[in-house]
Amino acid sequence: MMRTIFVATGNASKFKEIKDIVQRYDISAQMPGIEIDVQEGVVSYEENARLKASYLTSKLGIDALGEDSGIEIPALNGFPGVISARFVEGSDQDRNAALLAKMQLLKPGDRKAVFKAFVVITLKSGGYLTGYGELRGRINDIPMGSNGFGYDPIFIPDGYDRTLALLPGDEKNSISHRRKAIESAIKQYVEHIKQFKIQH
Ligand code: IMP
Repeated sequence: MMRTIFVATGNASKFKEIKDIVQRYDISAQMPGIEIDVQEGVVSYEENARLKASYLTSKLGIDALGEDSGIEIPALNGFPGVISARFVEGSDQDRNAALLAKMQLLKPGDRKAVFKAFVVITLKSGGYLTGYGELRGRINDIPMGSNGFGYDPIFIPDGYDRTLALLPGDEKNSISHRRKAIESAIKQYVEHIKQFKIQH
């Protein structure tokens, strides 16, 4: 029987990325159909991911997957980090413009950036599993491209000469921080299922 995991996100592009990856491990991903009534904190991505997943596990009594991610600029001491989605009110474009303005205050060589993602799977049998992934690169001078979301138009991954928003979705997903975090967590989950079957 195919195992189902509920995904604590309202973001359709994140859900699709997660669904496509977990399917390869014979796990089906499902939207929970209820609002994830969780206030994201400022402590850590892992804590936020765990809060989202455990909300579903405690409400519905199911295994659930939560994700939290952000972008960090080392030359800005890791800013915007856990507040990437909300350090400026408004649209993704507004936040890209605000980040580019901050970058102008730095030396021209200080454009390194890293995307980080944590995925937490909370288990109905108790406990949780954590996966981490990162994608290193640099911030472009101007936004370019319209694929993806968030900071994709201003981020160029290491080894590339184009922003993520100029790459086809599949190519971005094959290198993304989220992909690495999901795979790490799902591999642990598959092991957990095997162990659970042996014990029961
Ligand atoms: P979350 O939805 O609370 O995880 O917010 C993460 C925020 O980080 C998003 O709103 C984006 O601004 C940014 N972010 C995370 N992953 C990506 C990505 O793959 N591309 C572009 N921006 C991202």
